[in-house]
Amino acid sequence: MDFIATAFFFLVLLIALSIVWSTLKTGISPMMSSSKARQTMLNAISMDEKGALIDLGSGWGTLVIPVAKKQPNKQVIGYELSWFPWMVSVLFKYSLGLDNLTLYREDFKNADFSTASTLVCYLFPSGMVALEEKLKQNVLKNITIVSNTFALPSYKPTKVIKLKDFYQTPIYVYHWQAK
Ligand SMILES: C[S@@+](CC[C@H](N)C(=O)[O-])C[C@H]1O[C@@H](n2cnc3c(N)ncnc32)[C@H](O)[C@@H]1O
Repeated sequence: MDFIATAFFFLVLLIALSIVWSTLKTGISPMMSSSKARQTMLNAISMDEKGALIDLGSGWGTLVIPVAKKQPNKQVIGYELSWFPWMVSVLFKYSLGLDNLTLYREDFKNADFSTASTLVCYLFPSGMVALEEKLKQNVLKNITIVSNTFALPSYKPTKVIKLKDFYQTPIYVYHWQAK
């Protein structure tokens, strides 16, 4: 019994430390978008657009899992660096049989956007700088971007929706135009 309790304690400690470590490394914790934010982000996306939806930091899968479940014909992709939230999302993927969902434990900066029609994210200011750089350098097609809280540094949003919450959280909607 003591052994089980000790092993459990160290497992929880390891998980907590790994989350702290990845938060320090990436710049943001695997905090979920609120249900209001999630709903607003999904309402801003046309699911009829041909192409994949990619979450740039899919966390526990709280955004990609409902989309993949509701839209079985849509390819849904998540990139996540923090191993424990990523592992939980993978467990959900397999237990729900979501064959249209791919979850990479990889930096979104290495992501291939060539199949994407939509990007969603809830990042942080320097993550948005990195995203805009990547879009400028690699994206030669039109793409919709929906970002919770944080704006791209210089690209103008098509729309900013303010949530009716305590912080009036902004949801930025962009239509990135290929040059
Ligand atoms: C605030 S959470 C958002 C989770 C989910 N997208 C949502 O809206 O509920 C941000 C996630 O992005 C991940 N992340 C941050 N930088 C990343 C990067 N460069 N590549 C992949 N994931 C990253 C973090 O580990 C974290 O889990």
